[in-house]
Amino acid sequence: MKYLKLNNDLEVSQLVFGCMRISEMSVSELDELIQCALEEGINFFDHADIYGGGKSEALFGEVLKLHPEYREKMIIQSKCAIRKGKVGYYDFSKEHIIYSVNQSIERLQCGYLDVLLLHRPDTLMEFDEVAEAFNELQQSGKVKYFGVSNMNSMQIQMLQKHLDQKLIFNQLQFSPIHCGMVTNGIFANMREEQSLDHDGSILEYCRMEDITIQAWSIMQASWAEGTFLDNPNYAAFNDCLQEYADQFNVSKSAIVIAWILRHPANMQPIFGTTKTRHLKEMAAGCSIELSREDWYHIYTKAIGRMLP
Ligand SMILES: NC(=O)c1ccc[n+]([C@@H]2O[C@H](COP(=O)([O-])OP(=O)(O)OC[C@H]3O[C@@H](n4cnc5c(N)ncnc54)[C@H](OP(=O)(O)O)[C@@H]3O)[C@@H](O)[C@H]2O)c1
Repeated sequence: MKYLKLNNDLEVSQLVFGCMRISEMSVSELDELIQCALEEGINFFDHADIYGGGKSEALFGEVLKLHPEYREKMIIQSKCAIRKGKVGYYDFSKEHIIYSVNQSIERLQCGYLDVLLLHRPDTLMEFDEVAEAFNELQQSGKVKYFGVSNMNSMQIQMLQKHLDQKLIFNQLQFSPIHCGMVTNGIFANMREEQSLDHDGSILEYCRMEDITIQAWSIMQASWAEGTFLDNPNYAAFNDCLQEYADQFNVSKSAIVIAWILRHPANMQPIFGTTKTRHLKEMAAGCSIELSREDWYHIYTKAIGRMLP
Protein backbone atom coordinates (compact mmCIF):
# COMPACT_ATOMS: atom_id res chain seq x y z
CA MET A 1 0.00 0.00 0.00
CA LYS A 2 1.16 3.53 -0.70
CA TYR A 3 0.72 6.25 1.92
CA LEU A 4 0.50 10.03 1.76
CA LYS A 5 1.61 12.33 4.55
CA LEU A 6 -0.84 15.21 4.76
CA ASN A 7 -0.73 18.39 6.82
CA ASN A 8 2.66 17.15 8.14
CA ASP A 9 0.99 14.74 10.58
CA LEU A 10 -1.72 12.64 8.96
CA GLU A 11 -0.54 9.42 7.30
CA VAL A 12 -3.27 8.13 4.99
CA SER A 13 -3.39 5.07 2.78
CA GLN A 14 -3.78 6.05 -0.83
CA LEU A 15 -6.73 3.68 -1.23
CA VAL A 16 -9.90 4.58 0.67
CA PHE A 17 -12.67 2.19 1.73
CA GLY A 18 -16.01 3.79 0.74
CA CYS A 19 -19.00 2.88 2.89
CA MET A 20 -21.89 4.06 0.70
CA ARG A 21 -22.95 0.54 -0.33
CA ILE A 22 -22.41 -1.46 2.88
CA SER A 23 -25.79 -0.95 4.55
CA GLU A 24 -27.28 -4.31 3.48
CA MET A 25 -24.29 -6.38 4.61
CA SER A 26 -24.32 -8.43 7.82
CA VAL A 27 -22.02 -7.46 10.70
CA SER A 28 -19.82 -10.51 10.06
CA GLU A 29 -19.58 -9.83 6.30
CA LEU A 30 -18.59 -6.23 6.97
CA ASP A 31 -16.11 -7.32 9.63
CA GLU A 32 -14.47 -9.64 7.11
CA LEU A 33 -14.28 -6.84 4.51
CA ILE A 34 -12.80 -4.39 7.04
CA GLN A 35 -10.25 -6.99 8.19
CA CYS A 36 -9.29 -7.59 4.58
CA ALA A 37 -8.83 -3.82 4.07
CA LEU A 38 -6.69 -3.47 7.20
CA GLU A 39 -4.56 -6.44 6.09
CA GLU A 40 -4.03 -4.71 2.74
CA GLY A 41 -2.79 -1.64 4.65
CA ILE A 42 -5.89 0.50 4.03
CA ASN A 43 -6.43 2.82 6.99
CA PHE A 44 -8.93 5.32 5.56
CA PHE A 45 -12.73 4.81 5.75
CA ASP A 46 -15.23 7.17 4.12
CA HIS A 47 -18.77 7.58 5.43
CA ALA A 48 -21.64 10.05 5.16
CA ASP A 49 -24.57 10.61 7.48
CA ILE A 50 -26.94 9.76 4.61
CA TYR A 51 -25.44 6.44 3.47
CA GLY A 52 -28.17 3.84 3.85
CA GLY A 53 -30.15 6.52 5.75
CA GLY A 54 -27.63 6.16 8.63
CA LYS A 55 -27.53 2.35 8.46
CA SER A 56 -24.03 2.26 6.96
CA GLU A 57 -22.53 4.16 9.89
CA ALA A 58 -24.56 2.15 12.40
CA LEU A 59 -23.41 -1.17 10.93
CA PHE A 60 -19.79 -0.01 10.91
CA GLY A 61 -20.30 0.98 14.57
CA GLU A 62 -21.43 -2.57 15.35
CA VAL A 63 -18.14 -3.88 13.96
CA LEU A 64 -16.16 -1.33 15.99
CA LYS A 65 -18.05 -2.40 19.11
CA LEU A 66 -16.97 -6.00 18.48
CA HIS A 67 -13.41 -4.93 17.68
CA PRO A 68 -12.47 -1.75 19.58
CA GLU A 69 -8.85 -2.50 18.64
CA TYR A 70 -9.62 -1.48 15.02
CA ARG A 71 -10.27 2.16 15.97
CA GLU A 72 -6.66 3.21 16.49
CA LYS A 73 -5.70 1.71 13.11
CA MET A 74 -8.39 3.73 11.32
CA ILE A 75 -8.84 7.21 9.96
CA ILE A 76 -12.61 7.65 9.96
CA GLN A 77 -14.13 10.33 7.77
CA SER A 78 -17.78 11.28 7.50
CA LYS A 79 -19.71 13.85 5.54
CA CYS A 80 -22.71 16.02 6.32
CA ALA A 81 -25.01 18.64 4.80
CA ILE A 82 -27.26 16.68 2.42
CA ARG A 83 -30.76 16.62 3.90
CA LYS A 84 -34.14 15.19 3.04
CA GLY A 85 -37.22 17.39 3.26
CA LYS A 86 -39.99 18.53 0.90
CA VAL A 87 -37.17 18.20 -1.60
CA GLY A 88 -33.57 17.23 -1.04
CA TYR A 89 -31.51 20.21 0.14
CA TYR A 90 -28.12 21.26 1.46
CA ASP A 91 -27.49 22.65 4.93
CA PHE A 92 -24.25 24.27 6.14
CA SER A 93 -25.91 25.82 9.21
CA LYS A 94 -23.93 25.56 12.44
CA GLU A 95 -26.80 23.74 14.11
CA HIS A 96 -27.04 21.08 11.41
CA ILE A 97 -23.29 20.51 11.05
CA ILE A 98 -22.90 19.96 14.80
CA TYR A 99 -26.05 17.84 15.04
CA SER A 100 -24.95 15.66 12.14
CA VAL A 101 -21.44 15.09 13.54
CA ASN A 102 -22.84 14.11 16.95
CA GLN A 103 -25.19 11.64 15.27
CA SER A 104 -22.41 10.15 13.13
CA ILE A 105 -20.09 9.70 16.13
CA GLU A 106 -22.89 8.01 18.06
CA ARG A 107 -23.82 5.66 15.20
CA LEU A 108 -20.19 4.85 14.42
CA GLN A 109 -19.36 4.33 18.14
CA CYS A 110 -15.98 5.78 17.28
CA GLY A 111 -15.50 8.56 19.88
CA TYR A 112 -14.52 11.22 17.33
CA LEU A 113 -14.21 11.77 13.59
CA ASP A 114 -10.74 12.10 12.14
CA VAL A 115 -12.13 14.03 9.19
CA LEU A 116 -15.36 15.86 8.40
CA LEU A 117 -16.30 16.85 4.84
CA LEU A 118 -19.13 19.13 3.73
CA HIS A 119 -20.86 16.84 1.25
CA ARG A 120 -22.21 19.22 -1.41
CA PRO A 121 -22.06 23.03 -1.64
CA ASP A 122 -24.90 24.86 0.09
CA THR A 123 -25.41 28.07 -1.87
CA LEU A 124 -27.08 29.54 1.23
CA MET A 125 -23.93 29.00 3.31
CA GLU A 126 -23.09 31.61 5.93
CA PHE A 127 -19.33 31.54 6.39
CA ASP A 128 -19.43 32.51 10.07
CA GLU A 129 -21.74 29.59 10.86
CA VAL A 130 -19.42 27.09 9.22
CA ALA A 131 -16.42 28.65 10.96
CA GLU A 132 -18.12 28.50 14.36
CA ALA A 133 -19.21 24.91 13.82
CA PHE A 134 -15.70 23.82 12.79
CA ASN A 135 -14.11 25.63 15.76
CA GLU A 136 -16.51 24.06 18.23
CA LEU A 137 -16.06 20.60 16.75
CA GLN A 138 -12.28 20.88 16.76
CA GLN A 139 -12.04 22.39 20.25
CA SER A 140 -14.27 19.68 21.71
CA GLY A 141 -12.09 16.99 20.07
CA LYS A 142 -14.99 15.69 17.98
CA VAL A 143 -13.31 16.37 14.62
CA LYS A 144 -9.58 16.64 13.87
CA TYR A 145 -9.41 17.64 10.19
CA PHE A 146 -11.78 19.24 7.68
CA GLY A 147 -12.47 19.21 3.98
CA VAL A 148 -15.16 19.53 1.34
CA SER A 149 -16.73 17.50 -1.41
CA ASN A 150 -17.96 18.37 -4.91
CA MET A 151 -16.75 21.97 -4.65
CA ASN A 152 -15.21 24.11 -7.35
CA SER A 153 -12.08 26.15 -6.75
CA MET A 154 -13.79 29.47 -6.09
CA GLN A 155 -16.17 27.92 -3.56
CA ILE A 156 -13.22 26.45 -1.67
CA GLN A 157 -11.30 29.74 -1.75
CA MET A 158 -14.35 31.66 -0.57
CA LEU A 159 -15.01 29.32 2.34
CA GLN A 160 -11.36 28.87 3.28
CA LYS A 161 -10.97 32.64 3.72
CA HIS A 162 -13.30 32.46 6.73
CA LEU A 163 -11.98 29.32 8.41
CA ASP A 164 -9.23 28.79 10.98
CA GLN A 165 -8.64 25.22 9.77
CA LYS A 166 -7.09 24.39 6.41
CA LEU A 167 -9.39 22.43 4.11
CA ILE A 168 -7.24 19.44 3.19
CA PHE A 169 -9.58 17.28 1.07
CA ASN A 170 -11.99 17.74 -1.83
CA GLN A 171 -13.97 14.64 -2.81
CA LEU A 172 -14.79 14.61 -6.54
CA GLN A 173 -16.10 12.13 -9.08
CA PHE A 174 -13.17 10.88 -11.12
CA SER A 175 -12.47 7.85 -13.33
CA PRO A 176 -11.16 7.25 -16.87
CA ILE A 177 -14.77 7.78 -18.01
CA HIS A 178 -15.58 10.80 -15.87
CA CYS A 179 -12.48 13.02 -15.91
CA GLY A 180 -13.55 16.44 -17.13
CA MET A 181 -11.08 18.09 -14.77
CA VAL A 182 -8.25 16.45 -16.72
CA THR A 183 -9.85 16.86 -20.14
CA ASN A 184 -10.45 20.60 -19.97
CA GLY A 185 -6.77 21.04 -19.13
CA ILE A 186 -5.67 18.87 -22.05
CA PHE A 187 -7.97 20.86 -24.36
CA ALA A 188 -6.94 24.30 -23.04
CA ASN A 189 -6.89 26.94 -25.78
CA MET A 190 -9.05 24.85 -28.14
CA ARG A 191 -12.52 25.56 -29.54
CA GLU A 192 -13.83 22.04 -28.90
CA GLU A 193 -16.36 21.64 -26.13
CA GLN A 194 -13.87 19.48 -24.18
CA SER A 195 -12.09 22.73 -23.31
CA LEU A 196 -15.12 23.85 -21.28
CA ASP A 197 -14.15 24.14 -17.64
CA HIS A 198 -17.09 23.24 -15.42
CA ASP A 199 -15.25 23.41 -12.11
CA GLY A 200 -12.85 26.36 -12.12
CA SER A 201 -9.63 24.44 -12.90
CA ILE A 202 -10.31 22.34 -9.82
CA LEU A 203 -7.49 19.85 -10.50
CA GLU A 204 -4.87 22.57 -10.83
CA TYR A 205 -6.30 24.50 -7.89
CA CYS A 206 -6.20 21.50 -5.54
CA ARG A 207 -2.63 20.71 -6.58
CA MET A 208 -1.52 24.29 -5.99
CA GLU A 209 -3.19 24.46 -2.58
CA ASP A 210 -2.16 21.00 -1.34
CA ILE A 211 -5.75 19.80 -1.21
CA THR A 212 -5.93 16.05 -1.70
CA ILE A 213 -8.56 14.98 -4.20
CA GLN A 214 -10.48 11.88 -3.15
CA ALA A 215 -11.85 10.23 -6.30
CA TRP A 216 -15.35 8.74 -6.00
CA SER A 217 -17.21 6.26 -8.24
CA ILE A 218 -13.94 5.19 -9.83
CA MET A 219 -15.45 2.10 -11.53
CA GLN A 220 -18.80 3.66 -12.51
CA ALA A 221 -19.96 4.65 -15.98
CA SER A 222 -22.97 6.50 -14.53
CA TRP A 223 -25.65 5.95 -11.89
CA ALA A 224 -27.94 4.52 -14.56
CA GLU A 225 -25.39 2.22 -16.24
CA GLY A 226 -23.51 0.99 -13.17
CA THR A 227 -19.90 -0.09 -13.55
CA PHE A 228 -18.08 0.14 -16.87
CA LEU A 229 -16.22 -3.09 -16.02
CA ASP A 230 -17.39 -5.86 -18.39
CA ASN A 231 -20.11 -3.49 -19.61
CA PRO A 232 -20.81 -4.09 -23.34
CA ASN A 233 -21.40 -0.33 -23.83
CA TYR A 234 -17.70 0.12 -23.03
CA ALA A 235 -16.30 -2.83 -25.00
CA ALA A 236 -13.28 -1.04 -26.53
CA PHE A 237 -12.33 0.36 -23.13
CA ASN A 238 -12.63 -3.08 -21.53
CA ASP A 239 -10.43 -4.57 -24.28
CA CYS A 240 -7.83 -1.90 -23.56
CA LEU A 241 -7.98 -2.52 -19.79
CA GLN A 242 -7.71 -6.27 -20.43
CA GLU A 243 -4.56 -5.75 -22.49
CA TYR A 244 -2.86 -4.10 -19.49
CA ALA A 245 -4.44 -6.55 -17.03
CA ASP A 246 -2.80 -9.40 -19.00
CA GLN A 247 0.52 -7.58 -19.21
CA PHE A 248 0.69 -6.99 -15.44
CA ASN A 249 -1.19 -10.17 -14.47
CA VAL A 250 -3.88 -8.33 -12.49
CA SER A 251 -7.58 -7.49 -12.87
CA LYS A 252 -8.98 -4.68 -15.01
CA SER A 253 -10.01 -2.85 -11.83
CA ALA A 254 -6.35 -2.85 -10.70
CA ILE A 255 -5.44 -1.09 -13.94
CA VAL A 256 -8.05 1.59 -13.23
CA ILE A 257 -6.51 2.12 -9.77
CA ALA A 258 -3.03 2.29 -11.32
CA TRP A 259 -4.32 4.82 -13.87
CA ILE A 260 -5.69 7.11 -11.15
CA LEU A 261 -2.54 6.77 -9.04
CA ARG A 262 -0.29 7.50 -12.05
CA HIS A 263 -1.51 11.11 -12.04
CA PRO A 264 0.93 13.22 -10.02
CA ALA A 265 -1.96 14.96 -8.23
CA ASN A 266 -1.67 12.09 -5.71
CA MET A 267 -5.38 11.44 -5.53
CA GLN A 268 -6.95 8.95 -3.14
CA PRO A 269 -9.24 6.55 -5.06
CA ILE A 270 -12.25 5.57 -2.93
CA PHE A 271 -13.61 2.13 -3.79
CA GLY A 272 -17.16 1.02 -3.06
CA THR A 273 -16.98 -2.75 -3.30
CA THR A 274 -18.70 -5.10 -0.83
CA LYS A 275 -16.53 -8.10 -1.85
CA THR A 276 -13.12 -9.08 -0.43
CA ARG A 277 -12.12 -10.52 -3.82
CA HIS A 278 -12.76 -7.19 -5.56
CA LEU A 279 -10.98 -5.30 -2.77
CA LYS A 280 -7.82 -7.43 -3.07
CA GLU A 281 -7.88 -7.12 -6.87
CA MET A 282 -7.97 -3.33 -6.63
CA ALA A 283 -5.27 -3.16 -3.95
CA ALA A 284 -2.94 -4.95 -6.39
CA GLY A 285 -3.20 -1.86 -8.61
CA CYS A 286 -1.19 0.16 -6.08
CA SER A 287 2.05 -1.57 -7.05
CA ILE A 288 1.66 -1.12 -10.81
CA GLU A 289 3.56 1.70 -12.52
CA LEU A 290 1.95 2.71 -15.80
CA SER A 291 4.09 4.67 -18.23
CA ARG A 292 3.08 8.12 -19.46
CA GLU A 293 2.23 6.52 -22.83
CA ASP A 294 0.08 3.84 -21.13
CA TRP A 295 -1.77 6.56 -19.19
CA TYR A 296 -2.68 8.50 -22.35
CA HIS A 297 -3.59 5.27 -24.16
CA ILE A 298 -6.12 4.32 -21.46
CA TYR A 299 -7.41 7.91 -21.33
CA THR A 300 -8.13 7.99 -25.06
CA LYS A 301 -9.64 4.49 -25.20
CA ALA A 302 -12.03 5.07 -22.28
CA ILE A 303 -14.69 6.78 -24.39
CA GLY A 304 -12.93 7.04 -27.75
CA ARG A 305 -11.32 10.41 -27.03
CA MET A 306 -8.98 12.13 -29.49
CA LEU A 307 -6.17 14.33 -28.24
CA PRO A 308 -6.04 17.85 -29.71
N1 LIG B 1 -18.82 12.76 -2.29
C1 LIG B 1 -19.77 12.25 -3.05
O1 LIG B 1 -20.67 12.95 -3.54
C2 LIG B 1 -19.78 10.76 -3.29
C3 LIG B 1 -20.68 10.21 -4.21
C4 LIG B 1 -20.65 8.84 -4.42
C5 LIG B 1 -19.76 8.03 -3.71
N2 LIG B 1 -18.90 8.60 -2.80
C6 LIG B 1 -17.93 7.77 -2.04
O2 LIG B 1 -17.21 6.99 -2.95
C7 LIG B 1 -17.31 5.62 -2.61
C8 LIG B 1 -17.21 4.78 -3.82
O3 LIG B 1 -18.28 5.06 -4.72
P1 LIG B 1 -18.92 3.89 -5.57
O4 LIG B 1 -19.45 2.84 -4.65
O5 LIG B 1 -19.81 4.46 -6.58
O6 LIG B 1 -17.56 3.32 -6.22
P2 LIG B 1 -17.16 2.18 -7.22
O7 LIG B 1 -16.03 1.46 -6.58
O8 LIG B 1 -16.94 2.85 -8.52
O9 LIG B 1 -18.41 1.23 -7.37
C9 LIG B 1 -18.64 0.12 -6.55
C10 LIG B 1 -19.66 -0.75 -7.22
O10 LIG B 1 -19.06 -1.33 -8.38
C11 LIG B 1 -19.29 -2.74 -8.34
N3 LIG B 1 -18.31 -3.55 -9.04
C12 LIG B 1 -18.64 -4.41 -10.03
N4 LIG B 1 -17.57 -5.08 -10.45
C13 LIG B 1 -16.53 -4.67 -9.69
C14 LIG B 1 -15.15 -5.04 -9.67
N5 LIG B 1 -14.64 -5.94 -10.49
N6 LIG B 1 -14.37 -4.43 -8.78
C15 LIG B 1 -14.87 -3.50 -7.94
N7 LIG B 1 -16.18 -3.12 -7.91
C16 LIG B 1 -17.00 -3.70 -8.81
C17 LIG B 1 -19.31 -3.04 -6.86
O11 LIG B 1 -19.99 -4.27 -6.69
P3 LIG B 1 -19.45 -5.36 -5.61
O12 LIG B 1 -19.88 -4.86 -4.29
O13 LIG B 1 -20.13 -6.60 -6.04
O14 LIG B 1 -17.96 -5.43 -5.75
C18 LIG B 1 -20.12 -1.87 -6.32
O15 LIG B 1 -21.51 -2.07 -6.52
C19 LIG B 1 -18.62 5.51 -1.84
O16 LIG B 1 -18.65 4.38 -1.00
C20 LIG B 1 -18.58 6.78 -1.07
O17 LIG B 1 -17.74 6.60 0.07
C21 LIG B 1 -18.91 9.94 -2.60
